[in-house]
Amino acid sequence: MGLREKLEELRQQGIQEINKTEDLNKVNDIRVKMLGKKGPLTAVLRGMKDLSKEERPKVGKFANEIRDELTKAIEDKKAELTAARLNEKLAEETIDVTLPGKPTVQGQPHVIQQIIDQLVDLFVGMGYEVAVGDEVEQEEYNFERLNLPKDHPARDMQDTFYVTPSVLMRTQTSPMQARMMEKHDFSKGPLKMISPGKVYRRDTDDATHSHQFHQVEGLVLGEHITMADLKGTLEVVAKTLFGDQLEVRLRPSYFPFTEPSVEADITCFSCLGKGCAICKHTGWLEVLGAGMVHPNVLKMSGVDPDVYGGFAFGLGPDRFAMIKYGVEDIRDFYQNDVRFLNQFNQKG
Ligand code: PHE
Repeated sequence: MGLREKLEELRQQGIQEINKTEDLNKVNDIRVKMLGKKGPLTAVLRGMKDLSKEERPKVGKFANEIRDELTKAIEDKKAELTAARLNEKLAEETIDVTLPGKPTVQGQPHVIQQIIDQLVDLFVGMGYEVAVGDEVEQEEYNFERLNLPKDHPARDMQDTFYVTPSVLMRTQTSPMQARMMEKHDFSKGPLKMISPGKVYRRDTDDATHSHQFHQVEGLVLGEHITMADLKGTLEVVAKTLFGDQLEVRLRPSYFPFTEPSVEADITCFSCLGKGCAICKHTGWLEVLGAGMVHPNVLKMSGVDPDVYGGFAFGLGPDRFAMIKYGVEDIRDFYQNDVRFLNQFNQKG
């Protein structure tokens, strides 16, 4: 067989082989086999030295044409298979947007957080600033600066967890009163703030006590702030959270950092004042402590009690939630039983 025929045969064989391949990896093998240094085309070209002078350029040209043709066929095949592979992948990954979606389970704030959020919204709407303090507090701010010196008997009611001899888990959010008033600039207007957060006491847990619970502290200081302002504010709080029909009543009480001090009750939401088991037949529910800030507390934080004064209150969102939803055991809030918690789903 002459070289020409051999080349023709190689061409046909190569094209055929390329055409029938469906595997991208094999295309490369074919290229190496046909066009590589050890391949038949190179062998044929090597035999050219035996050809006559006239034949040599013709056969050479033909051989080059074949090499170009095979190279092109290989490239085309590669492109074709690559495109096919991509299409296959795209088809596999097609998303049917008409299928119904999988519902995602959406969380929601804890019921106590819901109460705190409501209170924060209410007070921010009345121009209060929100100051979140630290749960670990200096004894000085938790007690001394609130008119509770070291030997004060009222400390016994708020025994707590000490981190060091002078640092403790705060027993109340009231330290934020002292922290806020000592840095307030009264030339810019009155101080109006609330401080929501967790507090700790060395309490034995039962249906109405927990060693960890929440408070929202409120403080308003300025000139000419009276107890009438306190009562009005508490009325807004009670009506917003529990309903318009409820009344607020103030009873004399004692807190070391307020003078006079009061305990605030609201009409029992359940019997509306008639008397029932929930309000122990009094018609009232105790909801918070409050009073006019004690002059000693003002003085210790550098505020002149002859010029400025005002009220403070501390309420318990846990207790609010118990009253609002008729929950009888405070411990239910902390057990993270979603069957319990889902009852307070805001989205209904
Ligand atoms: N801090 C008080 C308590 O925990 C509540 C309170 C706050 C009373 C502010 C008066 C004024 O018992």
